[in-house]
Amino acid sequence: MGNLAITGGSPVRTHLFDPWPVYTEGERCALEDVLTNRSWGGQPFPGKHADAFAKKFAAFHTAQYGQCVSTGTVAIQAALKAVDIQPGDEVLVPAYTWEGTVGPVLLVNAVPVFVDVDPETYCMDAALAEQAITPKTRAILPVHLGMRFADLDALVPLARKHNLSLIEDCAHVHGGMWRGKGAGSIGDLGAFSFQSSKLITCGEGGAVITNNLEYFERVQSYINAGRASVTDQFKRRIIGFNYRLGEFQASVLGPQLDRLPAQQRTRQANIEYFESHLRSARGLGFLKSEPRITRTAPYSYVLKYFAEQARDIPRAAFVAALQLEGIPCDGLFYEPVYRSSLFPVNPAEFPALSWGREKPFDLRNMYYCPASERAAYHEAIWFPHYLFLSERKEIDTILEAIFKALDNIDELRGLEHQAIRNQGLSRADRES
Ligand SMILES: Cc1ncc(COP(=O)(O)O)c(C=O)c1O
Repeated sequence: MGNLAITGGSPVRTHLFDPWPVYTEGERCALEDVLTNRSWGGQPFPGKHADAFAKKFAAFHTAQYGQCVSTGTVAIQAALKAVDIQPGDEVLVPAYTWEGTVGPVLLVNAVPVFVDVDPETYCMDAALAEQAITPKTRAILPVHLGMRFADLDALVPLARKHNLSLIEDCAHVHGGMWRGKGAGSIGDLGAFSFQSSKLITCGEGGAVITNNLEYFERVQSYINAGRASVTDQFKRRIIGFNYRLGEFQASVLGPQLDRLPAQQRTRQANIEYFESHLRSARGLGFLKSEPRITRTAPYSYVLKYFAEQARDIPRAAFVAALQLEGIPCDGLFYEPVYRSSLFPVNPAEFPALSWGREKPFDLRNMYYCPASERAAYHEAIWFPHYLFLSERKEIDTILEAIFKALDNIDELRGLEHQAIRNQGLSRADRES
């Protein structure tokens, strides 16, 4: 019997953190409004709540136009269609991200080209992106991952120099700002997700924002079964599908956007407090601080763990120990997509991977991105954002658990436990 909960000791926490998502009377009233007005979505388009929210959400991110869609995956897909990505075009994506960044590229018959991340930010490395450009490259799709931004100061001129479109995957960065400009408003388009874990959620949903009316019109036609957009100044007709967001879902987004600035301040203050106490902890490190991020939007707090400074105890054991102390966190949260079991891509199913190539692109076996692999398999620890909405005394329990695990780290040596084995499994293979 040890001190750590995983070896039989008492856990630091025996009560849960406040659950996510949060809701108030605002959401309840909005839902009732949809119910009683019987305008539940579909036609007439756009719905009252979806339209009002999209406009407000775009403005909050300093963009002129916004469109709600059914998921974040669809948001990326619609953005790729807006910039006219054609079958066989190459799109640069970061290797370390959720598979949902990459799937839409395949869905529009284009070819994802993986680029390693910057080990200081875990976001796409702009210098490596430049090296990955070929005559077939048409777009760059960086992800503002976890709690940092991809280096837009480098990516915007890179895209311009090579005549490429720039689509920001903003699934993690609701409300974030880079040099005073909203996430998603700096590239050609920004794609957001409102899936249940996100900073604003309606269970499932997404949005596309842009400052370009033509792109907006194409997005709107694409997600509304090809109908003319509400403005229709560019008269472009494309085949579209029903990827609209229903009004029940749209209605709960508005109150959350109203609460976001206050939540952002709470998270930010708690994160600063948290980091100030961890600065001297051996075995841990931070992503590089980034003054160009002028409003933070931490989807998760991402800490670095260095096993070599923690008596060679692997991250899986450290993370499992924290979990048993009552702290929600994850190590293998994302994997390099090319290695993930959620990405069993078969070139025969995606003909664009073969067109104009001597042999089909074998996306699972042609990449090695060392920074992504290190982050995914050894270093990164992800703490969900809702922990940082808690009161200080709750944040103190996270710190207490971390120091307890570090102080008793030898108890983890050679330990066998289901929670440790689970950390070795890709999210595709876990039970939950
Ligand atoms: C980085 C990233 N991109 C894209 C997506 C896709 O969003 P959705 O799950 O809403 O389709 C997600 C989230 O789930 C994500 O985290």
